[in-house]
Amino acid sequence: MGQVYVLDHPLIQHKLTFIRDKSTGTKEFRNLVQEVAMLMAYEITRDLPLIEVQTETPVATATTKVIEGKTLALVPVLRAGLGMVDGILTLIPNAKVGHVGLYRDPETLQPVEYYCKLPPHVEERDVIVVDPMLATGGSAAAAITAVKERGATAVKLMCLVAAPIGVEKVQEAHPDVDIYVAAVDEKLNDHGYIVPGLGDAGDRLFGTR
Ligand code: URA
Repeated sequence: MGQVYVLDHPLIQHKLTFIRDKSTGTKEFRNLVQEVAMLMAYEITRDLPLIEVQTETPVATATTKVIEGKTLALVPVLRAGLGMVDGILTLIPNAKVGHVGLYRDPETLQPVEYYCKLPPHVEERDVIVVDPMLATGGSAAAAITAVKERGATAVKLMCLVAAPIGVEKVQEAHPDVDIYVAAVDEKLNDHGYIVPGLGDAGDRLFGTR
């Protein structure tokens, strides 16, 4: 079963409070989401494998370490996932970025993929699927399926806020995927919003609504 990591670093929790606050406007909301995404990226990359290399310093040859293998791939789920990409790239500027787009079929209410473009050799990369809100878990599970269908084998999920039911859904569908969140909230309401949550992440990021 995949683990759920609640990233409780004080800076993440402090900034999340202002992200949740309904009086936070678009510009500040956007900035805060990027900042939290950057801090979360620091934690989520803690276990990346290192290899030793020889480095010529101005003084001597040193045995030092670099991250092994191909650069990782970020895969934001359109559209709200886009709001976390630049923050992560601040820390991991060489990361490749793929995209997955999903819509909900009005009859079956199931997520349907309408777009998927991933970096080459995705099977050799650590892949981080990014979506701020893990609500029912339907979209996140479908996005993870989409990247796995194209060969990804090492997948993590990064969200800002999760509902318990969304966590369960992803764990059930993808027991090999660890989930990283800043908070697990109480529940979903009848409209599918996370309670207390932060509202509609896409609308707040892009100033729509
Ligand atoms: N998507 C959002 O943007 N917010 C929620 O609370 C649930 C899903």
